Amino acid sequence: MERIIEIEKLSFENEYEKNLRPTSWKEYIGQEQIKKNLQVFIKAAKKREETLDHILFFGPPGLGKTTLANLIAKEMQADIKTTAAPMIEKSGDLAAILTNLNEGDILFIDEIHRLSPAIEEILYPAMEDFRLDIIIGSGPAAQTVKIDIPKFTLIGATTRAGMISSPLRDRFGMHFRLQFYSKEELAKIIKKASLKLNKECEDDAALEIAKRCRGTPRIALRLLRRVRDFAEVENENKINLKRAKFALDQLGVNNLGFDELDLKLLHLLVEAKKAIGLSTIAAALSEDEGTIEDVIEPYLLANGYIERTARGRVATRKTYEVLKFKNPHTPSLFGDDL
Ligand SMILES: Nc1ncnc2c1ncn2[C@@H]1O[C@H](COP(=O)(O)OP(=O)(O)OP(=O)(O)O)[C@@H](O)[C@H]1O
Ligand SMILES: [Mg+2]
Repeated sequence: MERIIEIEKLSFENEYEKNLRPTSWKEYIGQEQIKKNLQVFIKAAKKREETLDHILFFGPPGLGKTTLANLIAKEMQADIKTTAAPMIEKSGDLAAILTNLNEGDILFIDEIHRLSPAIEEILYPAMEDFRLDIIIGSGPAAQTVKIDIPKFTLIGATTRAGMISSPLRDRFGMHFRLQFYSKEELAKIIKKASLKLNKECEDDAALEIAKRCRGTPRIALRLLRRVRDFAEVENENKINLKRAKFALDQLGVNNLGFDELDLKLLHLLVEAKKAIGLSTIAAALSEDEGTIEDVIEPYLLANGYIERTARGRVATRKTYEVLKFKNPHTPSLFGDDL
C-alpha cells in the first residue's frame, strides 16, 4: 500500500513534480546558505567564462537536490543531462555519456553513491582533467587510449553521505548538505504551489500542512494535492484551516508529521527502554538498513526524537513525552503509561 507520506518519489508524481518545481532562485524557498554560496560561485564562473566546479549534494529524499541541479543549469545557461548511477552499468555507458557532452554542459548523476568502483575509476580523470582513459585489450598487451572530453560540470546527488567513496567525494569542489525545512518555509512552498494549482491555500491551512510533512517539500506538495481534493469535493474555492485539518486527519497523517514507519520505530525504542541496534530495528520493521538510515532516521535525528549511541538507537525524552510513555530516566515527570 502506498504511504501518504512516503518520501521516495511515487512513479506517477514525476509529471506534477515537474510542474511545481521551482525554476528560479526566488521560487526556491529555504536552504539559504546553499543558495547564497551557489549564487556567488555561479557569478564567479560566469565572469571568468569557465565551467562551474563539480558539485555534490547530500540529503534525505525530497529536499530539493534535483531541483537545485536544474536551477544551476538554468543560471549557467547550460544544458543538463540527467542520469542515475544504477543506469550506468558498464564503463562503455559512462564513456558514451561523457563523449556526448558539449563544452559547458552539466551532467547530473543521481544516487551517485551507487556507481561501481570500476565506473568511478573512469570518472576520476574525467572530473579532474576532462580526459577519458580507455583500456583496450587485456593482460600485458593492454593499452590505454586517452581521449579528451569537453569541459563539463558534474553534479552528483546522494541520500547516503556515508556511502560515497572518499576519492569520489574529494573530486567534487563543492559539497552541500541540504537541511530539513522549517514550518514557515514549507508553508511558503505550499502557498506558492497552491496558487499554481489554482486552489489557494490560506495561511493557517498552509501552516497546518507544513506541520505534518516531515520537513520535506515533496511530502508537503503531496499532502497539498490530497487536501485540495477534499476542498474540491466540497466546492470550496480556497483551502481553509478546517478543511486542511479534516483532510489530514482523514488521511491519517499524524500531527507531528510521523508516518507509520516513524511511529513503529519510535514505539519499538520506547517499549524496549534501551538502545537497539540498526539490524534489529531493520528486522523488526521489515525494512532494509539503508532505508532506515536514509529515509526514516534523518528526520527523527534532526528533530531530537532519537539519538545514535555506540550501543544503538535510543528514544529521547521528547519521544517518551509525545508518545505519552513513562521515561525510564525521569519517571516522576511523565505520569503513568497509557
Ligand atoms: N526549496 C524548495 N522550494 C520549493 N519547492 C521545492 C524546494 N525543494 C524541493 N521542492 C519541491 O519538492 C519536490 C522534490 O524535490 P526534488 O525532486 O528536487 O528532491 P530530491 O532531493 O532530488 O529528492 P530525491 O533524493 O528523491 O531525488 C520538487 O518537485 C519541488 O517542486
Ligand atoms: Mg532527486
